[in-house]
Amino acid sequence: MDQSGIAEGFGYDPASGAIKDARRLAGRRPLHFEAADTVPAGWDGFDAAFSHEVLYLLDDLPAHARALFGSLVPGGVYYAVMGVHNTSPLMVEWHEANIEELHLPQLYDIDDVIAVFQAAGFDTAASRLAVRFVPTAGHGHQGRGRLLDWLSYYYEHKLLLRFARAPEIT
Ligand SMILES: C[S@@+](CC[C@H](N)C(=O)[O-])C[C@H]1O[C@@H](n2cnc3c(N)ncnc32)[C@H](O)[C@@H]1O
Repeated sequence: MDQSGIAEGFGYDPASGAIKDARRLAGRRPLHFEAADTVPAGWDGFDAAFSHEVLYLLDDLPAHARALFGSLVPGGVYYAVMGVHNTSPLMVEWHEANIEELHLPQLYDIDDVIAVFQAAGFDTAASRLAVRFVPTAGHGHQGRGRLLDWLSYYYEHKLLLRFARAPEIT
């Protein structure tokens, strides 16, 4: 926001602690946050939206796609980063270990995610997220090549999805 000339921003998350942190970190910037599990009522007319590692947590992906579509202006774009999906080996492992404790939905297939957003009306595109250096701390470098698995995760499997609402034809 400070560098990119963004006039105003809005964000939601069902975790009230995350909203509290966001409000504190926003300082006096024109950023507004609400605790909610979908786009809050009256939030629309956005030029751009983004989420980072949220899609895999959602039980009702079609409802999310429809809500985001409705919140954007024609020509608006929703960017979503998704590394947790069923062809991401480290995340398959992580998901298996955490599905019950975290009440996770089944892992999504990336092609199915794309199809859901297309059904909601979006033009879709995908890219790998452009990641360079990855801190080694916390990425298991105990001599078993685990660090290479993490690099593959960040370089290959963590995707940047682009969901665009078509501009109005005049
Ligand atoms: C893995 S964290 C990612 C947090 C942050 N985007 C980041 O990358 O550091 C997932 C976040 O999604 C939020 N979340 C869960 N269900 C959600 C929903 N229905 N709509 C929006 N956010 C949701 C969680 O509360 C959590 O803050």
